[in-house]
Amino acid sequence: MAQRFLAVGALLTILVATHYSLLRAQDRQLAGPVSVEGVSVAVFDDSGALVRPDNMEKWVFLGASLGMGYNGAVPFDPDTPGNFQTVLMEPTAFDVFQETGVFPDGSMFALLFHGTRTNVSINQSGFVMDDLLALEIHLKDKARFPDTGFNFFFYGPEDTVADAPDTPNGCTSCHTEHGETQAVFTQFYPTLKERLAKD
Ligand code: HEC
Repeated sequence: MAQRFLAVGALLTILVATHYSLLRAQDRQLAGPVSVEGVSVAVFDDSGALVRPDNMEKWVFLGASLGMGYNGAVPFDPDTPGNFQTVLMEPTAFDVFQETGVFPDGSMFALLFHGTRTNVSINQSGFVMDDLLALEIHLKDKARFPDTGFNFFFYGPEDTVADAPDTPNGCTSCHTEHGETQAVFTQFYPTLKERLAKD
């Protein structure tokens, strides 16, 4: 008799557990994409300007382009190819993304502009990077930018803090419309593309 009770008890436990996990799966579907906890590594000064991160040499490399233009107004000229544009991601947020496939609130990305040089040292053809010309940071921040959920900060080579423009703006619109994942241009970043392909 006791054995029968045990068997019924075990069966009930299994049924309840299965039902519970089905409900949880349903909840997840209703909630949309997985929600992940935010990261808080961005530092702001008293006026709300974003302090230029001081560890960018440790950020993760996402991709690079040369003379990349978005509107065709300036055709590409191989003799004067324009700038190198390098994209980096803050490592704490990168780790969360690798785990979940979602950019957590607080994620930061940087777009660095370097000029091009040729005939430097042993270089005789092609181009190497010249000095940093400018730096732009993409910050995901739902509290600061409730309408878009993100915005940009621009720095000259020597700037240590930057303000953000009002949202929405020309920058946020193109990113929202054409950036493949949460307004980020993951279609151009091989490491992130690889991670997204696993989902
Ligand atoms: C017409 C579309 C368009 C507009 C407008 C635009 N961007 Fe982008 N942005 C891109 C593309 C495409 C990339 C991919 C990387 C590249 O340019 O090399 C990118 C990448 C970036 C990145 C790297 C992280 C990410 O989100 O993918 C930052 C930071 C960035 N842009 C900042 C800005 C800022 C600041 C402005 C406004 C001054 C701006 N963008 C306006 C198309 C646009």
